[in-house]
Amino acid sequence: METLDKLHLNRQVMALIFMMPLVLVCSEATTQYSILEETESGSFVAHLAKDLGLGAGELAARSARVVSDDYKQRLLLDPETGDLILREKLDREELCGFVDPCVLPFQVSLEKPVQYFQGELLIQDINDHAPEFPDRELLLKIPENSQPGTRFSLKLAQDLDVGNNGLQEYRVSTNPHFHVLTRNNSEGKKYPELVQDRALDREEQAELSLTLIALDGGSPPRSGTALVRILIIDINDNAPEFVNSPYEVQVLESCPPDSPILTVLARDADAGNFGSVSYGLFQASDEIQQTFSINETTGDMRLKKKLDFEKIKSYHVEIEATDGGGLSGRGSVMIEVLDVNDNAPELTISSLTSSVPENAPETIISIFRVGDRDSGENGKAVCSISENLPFILKSTFKNFYTLVTESPLDRESRAEYNITISVSDLGTPRLTTQHTITVQVSDINDNAPAFTQTSYTMFVRENNSPALHIGTISATDADSGSNAHITYSLLPPQNPQLALVSLISINADNGQLFALRALDYEALQAFEFYVGATDQGSPALSSQALVHVMVLDDNDNAPFVLYPLQNASAPCTELLPRAAEPGYLITKVVAVDCDSGQNAWLSFQLLKATEPGLFSVWAHNGEVRTTRLLSERDVPKHRLLLLVKDNGEPQRSTSVTLHVLLVNSFSQPYLPLPEVEHDPIHGDEEVLTLYLVIALASVSSLFLLSVLLFVGVRLCRRARAASLGVCSVPEGHFPGHLVDVSGMGTLSQSYQYDVCLSGDSRSGEFKFLKPMIPNVMLQDSGREVKESTPCRDSFVFS
Ligand SMILES: *[C@@H]1O[C@H](CO)[C@@H](O)[C@H](O)[C@H]1NC(C)=O
Ligand SMILES: *[C@@H]1O[C@H](CO)[C@@H](O)[C@H](O)[C@H]1NC(C)=O
Ligand SMILES: *[C@@H]1O[C@H](CO)[C@@H](O)[C@H](O)[C@H]1NC(C)=O
Ligand SMILES: *[C@@H]1O[C@H](CO)[C@@H](O)[C@H](O)[C@H]1NC(C)=O
Repeated sequence: METLDKLHLNRQVMALIFMMPLVLVCSEATTQYSILEETESGSFVAHLAKDLGLGAGELAARSARVVSDDYKQRLLLDPETGDLILREKLDREELCGFVDPCVLPFQVSLEKPVQYFQGELLIQDINDHAPEFPDRELLLKIPENSQPGTRFSLKLAQDLDVGNNGLQEYRVSTNPHFHVLTRNNSEGKKYPELVQDRALDREEQAELSLTLIALDGGSPPRSGTALVRILIIDINDNAPEFVNSPYEVQVLESCPPDSPILTVLARDADAGNFGSVSYGLFQASDEIQQTFSINETTGDMRLKKKLDFEKIKSYHVEIEATDGGGLSGRGSVMIEVLDVNDNAPELTISSLTSSVPENAPETIISIFRVGDRDSGENGKAVCSISENLPFILKSTFKNFYTLVTESPLDRESRAEYNITISVSDLGTPRLTTQHTITVQVSDINDNAPAFTQTSYTMFVRENNSPALHIGTISATDADSGSNAHITYSLLPPQNPQLALVSLISINADNGQLFALRALDYEALQAFEFYVGATDQGSPALSSQALVHVMVLDDNDNAPFVLYPLQNASAPCTELLPRAAEPGYLITKVVAVDCDSGQNAWLSFQLLKATEPGLFSVWAHNGEVRTTRLLSERDVPKHRLLLLVKDNGEPQRSTSVTLHVLLVNSFSQPYLPLPEVEHDPIHGDEEVLTLYLVIALASVSSLFLLSVLLFVGVRLCRRARAASLGVCSVPEGHFPGHLVDVSGMGTLSQSYQYDVCLSGDSRSGEFKFLKPMIPNVMLQDSGREVKESTPCRDSFVFS
């Protein structure tokens, strides 16, 4: 308001000034005075009366008045002295503002006559105001990329004073970046202009504070200050930079996915968005993208999947950091994969022989290669096989091994080997791979069949049914397959006369032996032959065993009476002297049995007699003796029926008819027996030799008797026709103590028997002995079969 008033006042003053010439036309020229503003009131301004040419009292007399144009009573006229005195203190700035010079016009009016005088009071400025900035603080924002020389106009300061006392220049506190220029604006006012001297760097100094000084030209000069705050505005002039690039990191290949690897850090000196960094992989291959991830915000690198040293040993990962302004920086990460013993050794078989013939010399079973995909100790593979096997491992060349047989194998002791090959690496922990090779030992015919026994003894009861299974031979062969397939056979008998093929047959497959036809103990008591067992190997191997066949006796032969002959047409008659003592030996019935053992153990029994009390038969030796003295009343002819039984089961027997003729003396055609007077039965027990002598004597007499009988018979036959059978004695030499009898019954003519009788006939024990006469081939006219059959063995009375 005050300013407005001043302006208003100024206009009035100006109006006065423009009106003046009209007034001054009728007045004198104006008188000018000057005074400093702010001069105290009452101060002397000028000798007005004198200047107007008036006398001292004239002013008062003419009622002189001073009127200023603004109708304010600023000046006084001293009527006494005629001096012009300042009525009040004047403020130029109030009166004129920026108008310069500041002139206060006034009029002096006089009466009697009316006269006007024009005057002017020039109010001179004093430096009573300092320059003043409208704001204490100025804020200036400058982008940091502003170039040196750039100017920045600032708000100006005001100084109410004018002229020299007004604002003259601006200065700025000393700094390296700016200086200030004082410039005129269109109104001619001086304003400060900051000029940039050097490049700015927000990152170095983000804010500057300068003191701006406005100086006027007074003496002394006055000044005003303001603070200029310069904010340097960031521009994206810094790319992010990785702090420790290139990074190097080692990662175990065993790390699981999502394991952190490292955290990268990039710095951007810019602020705000320009300084916020996001991370990423740069131009990453698919492999790297699939393997690593980087957190955009934290720079945390992690594994996306497991690493595999064996595939890729190191990675070179390019990384990138980008700020919000789009600038980016690069870095790299060297990731070295560390080996972990995660691969078991491997074994690759390149050749394998699964079957080896036994007895083969050193043979290559397998060639294989071992390897481990790990590296270092983890990748060193050591190979071994289970011990105690006849195989050895040979290392041929790098990582190749050969498995060979150490010694010839024996299929029969072990036909299959499971060879476990263990491959271990040297890592920690050790990893081991095992592989089992199965080797079959193939058979070679190296084992002959072996009979379960070296010899077999088989027993067959005679009269067996044909094709009777008599026993089984068996052989085993340690080989296998056809090498162990045994075929049994009969070997040609050592005795060429044994017709083995007609007796025995063998089942080639199972070794069963069969008797082809009924055997006859009496013809063949035992025989032996060899059987063979042959395998089907190539070459075939064979072995043989001896088979004894023992024919067991059956009681199939009835006793056969040798003496007296039963089928003679003229039966032999024994002569008995009437003078014979009781116990007189009339004759001895001689019988044999083709069977053996109990079956041939004969006993004699008197079955029937015309005079039963007269005769007795010794059960064991068949001696027929008298039991009492004969008398004249006894009939001369007696007929005795004797039964000869064996001891077999079933019992077989033969009856013998004996004719006895009582004679008065041996002067008759029949010779007396020499030992008649002696009674061997009722006699005391004498020494053995005595009995032997007696026996010999009796046998001799019997022999003699027989001879005579035979001669008689023969003569008798010769005399008649030759139509009847002949009692013939085979030629041969017989020892004196044996009785040779020729069997004429069911046996064939040619059978020959030896009877050996000891003196002690009562003991009745029989002993089976070896044949004493070589076997004789028999010719059976009825059959074609030839048999070597010792029908009868010797009997010894012991
Ligand atoms: C500004 O004005 C002053 C006088 O008022 C004069 O002396 C000076 O040369 C002028 N400066 C410029 C830059 O015009
Ligand atoms: C990056 O890390 C931050 C802080 O740990 C997390 O919140 C954000 O999910 C992560 N980003 C990714 C993509 O994993
Ligand atoms: C070898 O291994 C096979 C298969 O495991 C088995 O059947 C056989 O009995 C083994 N042989 C030996 C001699 O251990
Ligand atoms: C009596 O039997 C024997 C033996 O069998 C025989 O050799 C002989 O011819 C027979 N004699 C008579 C007369 O039948």
